[in-house]
Parts: sequence; C-alpha cells; structure tokens
Amino acid sequence: MDEVKVLISEEEIEKIVKELAKEIEKDYDGKDLTLICILKGSTFFTVDLAKNLNRQVHIDFLQVSSYGKKTISNGEIDLRLELQESIEDKNILIVEDIIDTGRTLKYLIEHLKEKKPASVKLCTLLDKPERRVYDVKVDYVGMQIPDKFVVGYGLDYNELYRNLPYVGYLDM
Ligand code: IMP
Ligand code: MG
Repeated sequence: MDEVKVLISEEEIEKIVKELAKEIEKDYDGKDLTLICILKGSTFFTVDLAKNLNRQVHIDFLQVSSYGKKTISNGEIDLRLELQESIEDKNILIVEDIIDTGRTLKYLIEHLKEKKPASVKLCTLLDKPERRVYDVKVDYVGMQIPDKFVVGYGLDYNELYRNLPYVGYLDM
C-alpha cells in the first residue's frame, strides 16, 4: 500500500466541521436549508456537518464525475445521479469535499440554478486555491491546503482510502 501522511487529523477535522456548522446555523437562522451532498467524496463531510447542525435540514445527493481514474482533471463533467427532490424556491447549500480547478463547482452551480432555487451557496471542506482555473465564489471553506493530492475522509485515489478518518496525502 502506498504510504499516506497525515495532513489534517481526525480531531482537527472535527473542530473545523463544528465551526462551519455554527456559522451555517447562524446564517440560515429562520430559513429552510437543503444540503446537497456531492457523491461520493463529500459523504463523510456531509454526514458530520448535518449531525452538527442543530436545526432541520433536507439532504439530497448529486453525483458527478470529472476525474476518471486519473489524478488530473480530464475536463469532462459527467452527471451520474440527479437530485431526487425539487429545489424550487429552496435555499441550497452545496457540500463539497474539495475544490481544485473549480470546474466541477462551476458546472454544478449552473446546473442547480436552472432548477430555480431561492439561493445557492457553496461549502467545501478543503480548498486548493493555487489550482483554481474557474472563478467560483466559495461561501464556507473548512481549510485551504497546498497543491497536494489528498485522500481520506471521503476523498479517494482510484476509489481507495475514502474510509481513512483523517485527510492525508500520498507520498508518490
Ligand atoms: P475540480 O473540478 O478540478 O475543482 O475538482 C473537484 C473534484 O476533483 C473534487 O470534488 C474531487 O472529487 C476531485 N479532487 C480534486 N482534488 C483532489 C484530491 O486532492 N484528492 C482527491 N480528489 C480530488
Ligand atoms: Mg468530489
């Protein structure tokens, strides 16, 4: 097995998620809120975030694919699973694991806005600003990280390592 070095520990992730939840709770006070989990990478983050939100939320799922089995984006976005509920007039919060070039998010925001939600905001656990190609406005960022390929806490390399409780990087 390739070696994984810890970048963000389980305890640090917990702290980051709690802080984000507090901020989101405050901003959406008195409003409806639908979390949109972007499969598969953001499942762990969405679950923990939702559990820390002391309020009612809707949760729905979208699956897109942009990477195939490579560690660099091939530029194609493939919508693999569509939302199950209507989001018309709802306040939507996209929950992502990581923003790299921004291509996936740019596509997702355009896709969701066509469904006429009341608002669309974006929350990501990790952000690699150095890699940004597409300008996307991120409303909630857990942590900015350097340009390294990371795995764990939902993030994969060839569909492996998602179940690591921490975020680490592959020493390749
Ligand atoms: P973007 O479209 O280039 O912003 O890429 C976003 C998607 O690529 C994320 O939702 C991840 O699924 C994947 N990705 C980007 N960087 C990493 C990484 O370091 N580790 C694992 N997946 C990544
Ligand atoms: Mg993803």
